[in-house]
Amino acid sequence: MGEENYNLVTYGDSGQADRRRQRLDLVRNCPIPDGELLLNMGLFLVPQTLSRILFMDFLYRQILDVQGIVMDFGCRWGQNALLFTAMRGIYEPFNRLRKVVAFDTFGGFPGISAEDGNSQMMSTGSYSVTEGYEQYLAKLLELQEAECPLEHISKHEICKGDATVEVADYLQRNRETIVALAYFDFDLYEPTKEVLQAIQPRLTRGSVIGFDELNDPDCPGETLAVIEVLGLDRYAIKRFPYNSRTSYLVVE
Ligand SMILES: C[S@@+](CC[C@H](N)C(=O)[O-])C[C@H]1O[C@@H](n2cnc3c(N)ncnc32)[C@H](O)[C@@H]1O
Repeated sequence: MGEENYNLVTYGDSGQADRRRQRLDLVRNCPIPDGELLLNMGLFLVPQTLSRILFMDFLYRQILDVQGIVMDFGCRWGQNALLFTAMRGIYEPFNRLRKVVAFDTFGGFPGISAEDGNSQMMSTGSYSVTEGYEQYLAKLLELQEAECPLEHISKHEICKGDATVEVADYLQRNRETIVALAYFDFDLYEPTKEVLQAIQPRLTRGSVIGFDELNDPDCPGETLAVIEVLGLDRYAIKRFPYNSRTSYLVVE
């Protein structure tokens, strides 16, 4: 893939772009033979990516004794959904009820509200993906499940479309749903607010909600949505000390 601009905001120093280009070059020209390449993906993780993986692991380990499914809101390329699927295979390989459900338009931001401010990323279509990406992600999820026990039972779903519509539809189709872990990474006010409201009756004590952008001036709408739906004084909004931006709360 080339240098498409998806309106991403980064806070790296002036040398970061050049270092990342060099690394990308090393990825593309990797001399490791095919048979060993997938076993050595850690070679290409930058600390920031690794710290996100550690955060997802930290969240997942907190729901091991909580009934319910995992919902990944704003999955984009789907890394979190793949990680959660791997973690299910590692930590609770026989939990057939722990579905991983990934939501995205796969076309980027469907719209912006006044509450979202005016950071560079705030325009319709930001954070889109390549054409038909959801099919690629579906194949990855299928193969990831196949690496783990109970592979004959499908335990993942991709819901393409506006999540404010899709989550209601999912809950209508799956009326038994309890949400053990919800990860919010829409970056936006409206979907964060509406989806929080939709899943609120499906949370239980111990459910974990992760947020990518609370207290982040680039995405004020995410915090405003949490204030309006949950309030800040009702739950402790914690941060994972090894990752700069992310937060979480545990329903008590
Ligand atoms: C910052 S990206 C998510 C990044 C991803 N979670 C990751 O870890 O790489 C924000 C995503 O939210 C999605 N999104 C925003 N509003 C949405 C909505 N109403 N319904 C579905 N997806 C939405 C966008 O399409 C985009 O993929």
